[in-house]
Amino acid sequence: MIEQIEFEFQKRFGDQYLIIEAPGRVNLIGEHTDYNDGFVLPAAIDKAIWLAMNLNDTGRIRLFSVDMNEEYDVELTSSLQKSGMGWPDYILGVVDQLRKHGMNSVGFDCVFGGNVPIGAGLSSSAALEGGVLYGLAELNGWKISTMNMAQIAQKAENEFVGVQCGIMDQFASINGKESHALKLDCRTLEYDKIPFRDPDFKIVLCDTGVRRELTGSEYNVRRTQCEEGVSIIQKSHPQVKKLRDVTIEMLEEYIDQMDDVVYKRCKFVIEENRRVLDACDDLEQDNIGAFGEKMFQSHQGLQHKFEVSCKELDILVEVAKKVEGVIGSRMMGGGFGGCTINLVRTNTVEQFKQEVSRDYLKQTGLKVEIYETTISDGTRVIKSTEKQTTE
Ligand code: GLA
Repeated sequence: MIEQIEFEFQKRFGDQYLIIEAPGRVNLIGEHTDYNDGFVLPAAIDKAIWLAMNLNDTGRIRLFSVDMNEEYDVELTSSLQKSGMGWPDYILGVVDQLRKHGMNSVGFDCVFGGNVPIGAGLSSSAALEGGVLYGLAELNGWKISTMNMAQIAQKAENEFVGVQCGIMDQFASINGKESHALKLDCRTLEYDKIPFRDPDFKIVLCDTGVRRELTGSEYNVRRTQCEEGVSIIQKSHPQVKKLRDVTIEMLEEYIDQMDDVVYKRCKFVIEENRRVLDACDDLEQDNIGAFGEKMFQSHQGLQHKFEVSCKELDILVEVAKKVEGVIGSRMMGGGFGGCTINLVRTNTVEQFKQEVSRDYLKQTGLKVEIYETTISDGTRVIKSTEKQTTE
């Protein structure tokens, strides 16, 4: 893949470039907690997007997506508009956001491609945003902390692409650390690296193959529902800023004043946030069984209270639960399709693959894609030709 990207870059733009590797991510536990100022436990993975990049003196942004076999070329004017094509917007959004932070790049070239499945909940978009940002910072000599990069990439998605996502995906892709899960406090942005490597079990992802355009709009609806809950509770608890600050007891005080749906949404977030903290304790105590149990509980909550699962995800979790050696299983990411994440004993992974494929096909008529994955480092430069700039 990297060779092909280099080939396409050389063909179009010359032989001076940087190669950046920007990984996808998994989230072990803590879904829809990030934008509620709560905790998450993601990790970068060994599926990535690779970008060949260099500055140019044409005053244009020239892009080529190897996977889509599409190019996009636009003048660097003062007001960048959406491309109408999808993928270029993640890149243009980053340029737009950098400018708002006072960083104006000259024109640049970028050829990219990768093996993070698109729309599967593995954050291919965050990887692309983070990769472009990292590359532009390197090429322009801008010193931006990796946490600040995550914030800028998130804003690019919020303001330019229009999805009100939290910071988890961009943070994990950029800051990942091999063999470690990252326990991030989404309020303070402090994080701990928790060792997550045990030869006895594997992280296995099962892709439903379902892609729903719903994600963006339904996602924004969930955010609004959480905010609605907060605004009701705030009336008599002014210290409450986000659901992070609400306890189950506080929520129960408002059960009669709250719409049933808003109540359910809030309850899930409060419980899920607690689960992340408890699950981190489980890891510290080496109690992987208790950790896996919380993954199942997380799925139940996402299915029935937060209602962001779908039939195919539920089937995958049900089917996985029956296989010997499965420690935990749940839907991952925003929801409505994409992947489940499973913790599976190493010696039963083959059996897992066979049984899940067979039963999923039987129940849905669909073929499941299964990926074993390992936790890797975050976004970084992996190759640099001698001189990148064209002056
Ligand atoms: C998407 C968003 C994240 C997070 C998850 C749900 O992946 O981009 O910020 O909110 O959904 O946990």
